[in-house]
Amino acid sequence: MKTSFFLAGLLLLAAGCNQQSSHDAAFSIVPQPVELTPQEGTFAIDESVSLVFQHMENAAPVQQYITEYFPKYFGKQLPVAGNAEKAIVFALNETPDAALQTEGYKLTVTENDITIYANVPAGLVYGLQTLYQLAPADSIKNNPAQIAIPAVTIVDYPRFEWRGSHRDVSRHFFDIAHIKKHLDLMALYKLNKFHWHLTDDHGWRLEIDKYPKLTEIAAWSVDRSNVAWREGEPPKEGEPATYGGFYTKDEVRDVIAYAAQRGIEVIPEIELPGHCSAILAAYPEFACDDFPYYVQIGPYWPPKAILCGGNDTVMVFLKEVLDEVAELFPSEYIHIGGDEAFKDNWKVCPKCQKRIKDLQLKDEEELQSWMIREIEQHLIAKGRTIIGWDEILAGGVTPTAVIMSWRGEKGGIEAAQHGNYVIMTPDNYCYFNYYQADKETEPATIGGYVPLEKAYAFDPVPAELTAEEAKFIKGGQANLWAEFLFTPEYAEYMLLPRLLALSEVVWSPKTHKDWEFFKAKLPAQKQRLAALNYNYCDKVEEIK
Ligand code: ACM
Ligand code: ZN
Repeated sequence: MKTSFFLAGLLLLAAGCNQQSSHDAAFSIVPQPVELTPQEGTFAIDESVSLVFQHMENAAPVQQYITEYFPKYFGKQLPVAGNAEKAIVFALNETPDAALQTEGYKLTVTENDITIYANVPAGLVYGLQTLYQLAPADSIKNNPAQIAIPAVTIVDYPRFEWRGSHRDVSRHFFDIAHIKKHLDLMALYKLNKFHWHLTDDHGWRLEIDKYPKLTEIAAWSVDRSNVAWREGEPPKEGEPATYGGFYTKDEVRDVIAYAAQRGIEVIPEIELPGHCSAILAAYPEFACDDFPYYVQIGPYWPPKAILCGGNDTVMVFLKEVLDEVAELFPSEYIHIGGDEAFKDNWKVCPKCQKRIKDLQLKDEEELQSWMIREIEQHLIAKGRTIIGWDEILAGGVTPTAVIMSWRGEKGGIEAAQHGNYVIMTPDNYCYFNYYQADKETEPATIGGYVPLEKAYAFDPVPAELTAEEAKFIKGGQANLWAEFLFTPEYAEYMLLPRLLALSEVVWSPKTHKDWEFFKAKLPAQKQRLAALNYNYCDKVEEIK
């Protein structure tokens, strides 16, 4: 297995990075598959080829996705047949093949046919992406009558179960069409968890029937889109709030179904108890004080807004909102935030202090832990697991909370050693809103520096962990905070090509990681991204 991988690498490097020989395109697959064995010959995809589906009676949405994929990604409308002379066969194993683990696939291309086998529908989706990447990179653009797929045998499965991509839609609102384009991109690179950051100081983005002011008021700020992020002035008296937006429940259901067809779980994040200016603009009674909160614009630091931890109606509000969230999102996980909750208000609020005293809590951190535990119990009763940012460790966590480690690896290490499951998203590797190239030459962003090589160097398993502790690492995720991302094009630019690096980090075996080989695969990948109308950064900076 290793031999064939290195052989492919050597052939590719021998062909030269800039030449688009068919051999380059043949094996420029991202993420790198576990086992790839080239064979003799090619299979031609043309209009005489049929799609054959086997044992997919319970996977109609994925069958539909695959059928619609061929016109979009191969430029070929292929008929579906029960059986055919020239076929691309997609088959779910009736008896699971242990060699494919849960999500894997086996792809075999011969001169006569193509077959993709998987244990679960998502495996077929992943096999399809690999098949697409076996086609010459220019075939979408040139649409040849026949697309030559090199004969090959591939056995492939992911290293981690959590392969995440996060989008902040609060700092700027992104419409459903853009979210779907993002999900298409995730599918292309075999990412499977879409973390949707739906609420923050700068806007609440989700329709909640019981609390209509969340979308009437909290979803809208005054418009400062014509000035740089750091220069937005506070709202003036009487100025209308016209900038923002929200998703209706029907739109969310549509996104969830669209994601599921692509093997992607959508995880909503509802921030508590901080990052809540937008909520307090709509429902000021949930604050500790009578400060005139508004839906934030521009930089807002340190954030003062916090939901009152001593007010029972706040707990009712959170539970009722989460009831609707749980009803809408079928995900196993619900993210409850917990980051950067500045507790100055709590320190001087009689209600918060009374709660601390009544419950014999040590301090404000323990008050946050109490709130989160109450919310977690409410969600556990609905069969859900909570995720929180690593700050929730501060006042103590239950063993069932999943920790998302963002302030470097420290929180993740502590949580794994404590026996909590962990998702690694350390900002110094995984914050794709940080600069990816020399800031003098780049559009303005929040700061930081994560060049492509750094994103590629990420390993979700910190070196400090023992093998036993490492089992608590579910995987990794890239986060895209949107302060500076005024347009969808800029969001794509920040994601790409770093999302490809993440994809190889979380999917491919660690032994297959090879920065030089990855770089050699980029030209073909960029050709595909351009043909699919994605914007990307063309600079490949290495770690300075
Ligand atoms: C975060 O970046 N505040 C999670
Ligand atoms: Zn309070």
